[in-house]
Amino acid sequence: MRIGVLTGGGDCPGLNAVIRAIVRKAVDVKGDTVLGFYDAWDGVLEQRYIELSTETVRGLLPRGGTILGTRRGSPFDTPDGITRLKKTFSDLKLEALIVIGGNGSLTVASMLYEQLGLPIIGVPKTIDNDVVGTDATFGFQTAVQIATDAIDRLHTTAESHDRVMVVEVMGRDAGWIALHAGIAGGATAILVPEVPFDIDEVSQVVRRRHDRGRYASVVVVAEGARPKDGTLVLPERKLDRYRHEQLGDIAHFIAPEISARTGYESRVVQLGHIQRGGTPTAYDRVLSTRFGLSVVDAVHEKAFGEMVVLKCGAIERVKMSVTQGCTRMIDPALFADVAATFFG
Ligand code: F6P
Repeated sequence: MRIGVLTGGGDCPGLNAVIRAIVRKAVDVKGDTVLGFYDAWDGVLEQRYIELSTETVRGLLPRGGTILGTRRGSPFDTPDGITRLKKTFSDLKLEALIVIGGNGSLTVASMLYEQLGLPIIGVPKTIDNDVVGTDATFGFQTAVQIATDAIDRLHTTAESHDRVMVVEVMGRDAGWIALHAGIAGGATAILVPEVPFDIDEVSQVVRRRHDRGRYASVVVVAEGARPKDGTLVLPERKLDRYRHEQLGDIAHFIAPEISARTGYESRVVQLGHIQRGGTPTAYDRVLSTRFGLSVVDAVHEKAFGEMVVLKCGAIERVKMSVTQGCTRMIDPALFADVAATFFG
């Protein structure tokens, strides 16, 4: 078969491992031709691609990022995008396209399948772990480990200076990284988008901890965390060129509010794109590899419109359309019964 592959949305550790697994199975085992499109949909519309061979994917398993490059945006964004997309399928005689992406890319992929009948199959990825239909996405474990390592280091400097460290991690709509790294790192408080916070309550928690003789606190905040209505008013955010709110300022906003209420000195650490960079953990390499091998089977079984997912430890398939307009939120019990037990 002639199979295209692209990586879309924000990059994440494990993308290269998926590409490697796809090529190893499709080319070496099935005798397929695999075309890797550069820069997500841009490469598809502009017919910029590379024929991937075993040689081109050598050494990719531990390498972060994506050799294909990635972009946000979709063929729906340009007036002649759909015409050019169809032309690429016919010019290159593509029989399937594998889209490795998060909620945005998978939503677009499922719409292209539904509206045009294009033979597209998805592989979910994102450090945010917020794709509906799968128990996990690769990249998440790596991001949590990076954030946990950072929190461990911040404890010692916070203790030395008697400070409140406010650590901002990624998580636009769902607080998976904040919740897991916060539990693993022994956070004093964890602020996630799913549970609006009251800055007075957060400050009380910090004060209670200090009253009990602990002179340092680490507050972990997801970039998309929101205050309860009628408490704090966040400054208006700018939109990027895809009309996404540009996040990444909440820690700077809440740290002085905590200091003002407690009298304790605070510092801000934004982990930002460090969470997305570098080598994937062993878990993420294994999950990426399983997804990559399995999606080639899905292509040969013509399971178009579906994506490979992890369900109770097994690789299964669900319709890509489950991602349309949906975000997988954190487990409320993990927040309320586990994380919150250690607050303060
Ligand atoms: O990939 C998802 C994500 O990591 C979000 O958590 C974050 O808000 C966003 O990407 C940042 O995107 P960019 O790389 O465009 O700044």
